[in-house]
Amino acid sequence: MALILGIESSCDETAVAVIDGAGTTLAARIIAQRVASQDDEHRPYGGVVPEIAARAHAETLAPMVGAVLADAGLALADMDAIAATAGPGLIGGVMVGLVTAKALAMAADKPLLAVNHLEGHALSARLAEPDLAFPYLLLLASGGHCQILEVRGLGQYRRLATTIDDALGEAFDKTAKILGLGFPGGPAVERLAREGDPKAVPLPRPLLGSAEPHFSFAGLKSAVMRAHDAGIHKPEDIAASFQQAAIDCVIDRTRRALERAGEVTALVVAGGVAANASLRAALTGLAQGAGLPLVAPPPKLCTDNAAMIGWAGAERFAAGLTDPLDVLARPRWPLDPDAEPVRGAGVKA
Ligand code: KG4
Ligand code: ZN
Repeated sequence: MALILGIESSCDETAVAVIDGAGTTLAARIIAQRVASQDDEHRPYGGVVPEIAARAHAETLAPMVGAVLADAGLALADMDAIAATAGPGLIGGVMVGLVTAKALAMAADKPLLAVNHLEGHALSARLAEPDLAFPYLLLLASGGHCQILEVRGLGQYRRLATTIDDALGEAFDKTAKILGLGFPGGPAVERLAREGDPKAVPLPRPLLGSAEPHFSFAGLKSAVMRAHDAGIHKPEDIAASFQQAAIDCVIDRTRRALERAGEVTALVVAGGVAANASLRAALTGLAQGAGLPLVAPPPKLCTDNAAMIGWAGAERFAAGLTDPLDVLARPRWPLDPDAEPVRGAGVKA
């Protein structure tokens, strides 16, 4: 057994897990996990308020560590290492999680693993699918990020695409806000879209067909706003048409990235938006056409959780990649630091 305590606190989920890095199935790997969402705290503001998030993590985290260890029937002393998200994310929350992990590591004399939250998402597919081998093409779509990466190995990423404006999850959240669906927005848009006609509202597909596989969603968001303000469309038709337009963009961009990538073993989708069933269905079709399997972790491992952080920690631990106790929390931490910045909307390359 290689037992890792994982901690996640980079946005609005407080999460703790105990992972067995030596487990050969998903069920054997996740020994215990809990996720506490802060939806109720942030709902009155229509989005995540960093200060409120940090305070809520500070309140919830330490008791949750005790509860998850109890769920697992294990003690801190049984752990082989302590892993926590060290960035990127809302810095107050990241600090709460990382400092807690440092204290636990010090108290129990265990190694610390400072995990990149994005690497947690990237490797969640290997947690769920033990046979998934490097290299694979990863669509990482969350509230803060929308990227396509070639995952070559642990810590080895080549970014093929990113968004020049909004992330995909952000576009879902803004559409939800425009339609008055409340917070969190992605799942609410998906639910409403099931009742609507995806062809009812003509909406743009930004960057469709463009040479580089980058994303852009700001124009789509503005078009949703105009469609709503026109007052002639049913909300469910706007939701369905938005979701369809967004998925059309993602499929086109991912197809382009597949053309650009080297040989890969699979197409993988991860991050919160990967919980969306219509997106998963569309990506399954794309992967089949390319002769690749689609690997999509179960929805609960797509949205923020600590199992993916514990798992990324377990992979790093197995590779001997532990971190010193003075490692810093990082608000920004790209997976591919060599990727060139992309030109923003309106700037011609
Ligand atoms: O990975 P995640 O939990 O947190 C970040 O690291 O950002 O992703 C959260 C994002 C939010 O924008 C949320 O609206 C979106 O994922 N999301 C969804 C769905 N579930 C979560 N978007 C579309 N459909 C869903 N079912
Ligand atoms: Zn995330």
